Amino acid sequence: MTDSFASADERAAFIAGLPKAELHLHIEGSLEPELMFELAQRNGVAIPFASVEEVRAAYAFSNLQDFLDIYYQGMGVLRTEQDFHDLTVAYLARARADGVRHVEIFFDPQGHTMRGIAFETIVTGITRALDEAHAKHGMTSKLILSFLRHLSEAEAEATLDEALPFLDRIAGVGLDSSEVGHPPSKFERVFARARDLGLKLVAHAGEEGPPAYVHEALDLLKVDRIDHGNRSLEDPALVARLVSEGMTLTVCPLSNLKLCVVDDLADHPLKTMLDAGLAATVNSDDPSYFGGYVNANYRAVADALDLSKADLVTLARNSFTGSFLSEIDKAKHLEAIDAYA
Ligand code: HPA
Ligand code: ZN
Repeated sequence: MTDSFASADERAAFIAGLPKAELHLHIEGSLEPELMFELAQRNGVAIPFASVEEVRAAYAFSNLQDFLDIYYQGMGVLRTEQDFHDLTVAYLARARADGVRHVEIFFDPQGHTMRGIAFETIVTGITRALDEAHAKHGMTSKLILSFLRHLSEAEAEATLDEALPFLDRIAGVGLDSSEVGHPPSKFERVFARARDLGLKLVAHAGEEGPPAYVHEALDLLKVDRIDHGNRSLEDPALVARLVSEGMTLTVCPLSNLKLCVVDDLADHPLKTMLDAGLAATVNSDDPSYFGGYVNANYRAVADALDLSKADLVTLARNSFTGSFLSEIDKAKHLEAIDAYA
């Protein structure tokens, strides 16, 4: 194969057909304004916006917390099992259209149980949609329960207790929300318990927080993947360690741009990560809030950094090798990528 593209259109076409997995997606962050209005009406929930345009106009953030404030407010329209189902169906349709064959989806139960929504309502709604996508389209998925790090470890423990009857539907636990001031060390005990329960472990680290938080996620939480991980690049010894351990980073370019983790996609660290041998992947994080689903993320960062065909293939391969699929399933997907490329 020739390694460069003649045009952005040619690159976009290559991205569109590339089989891929998405490993960093908050299902509540896929709530499009149109569905937000529909659910607000269906459930009689008041929202502080008069139109879809007004909602979109409110999506201007200068940091992670700006976004989180509006994200937790937005998820307030989700009340019934059907709501969680419909939300998930809408995301899966967008993902499938982007050539996503496998998804690993975060959900934030504490954002709902604190509003009086039963844990069972959330899990049942999401997994019903995941099961349908598998039956209809062969799309596979894993569900990851994410703890809100601005809350206490005791609250995370109580959430893990609530998850116990549903562990057949939950592949792992994660850690998200306000990073700075809430280091991984705060959650060492609940992650140890999750590990003992056989759950996979991931954590957001190095999005706004320092490289020390990535070290903590590795050493104290013993994570299987790092979500974001951008600031790892400030610490060469950490980069060497992540490379030698083959640690997957679930990078989210448009999120990084919208939350001002980078000022310009031309300065995005993805190419540096790949050149350093880091197992980086491309993901959409909260696509409704950040302006694009997974292919939009691939296109934007590939155009800004002039990524080659080999880079894009590496990213797609990394998305499967870094997934929680079985080795047999990973091999099947990698073969499909090789056949495509
Ligand atoms: N970072 C931290 N918490 C989050 C994010 C994110 O990008 N998206 C949803 N919760
Ligand atoms: Zn995230």
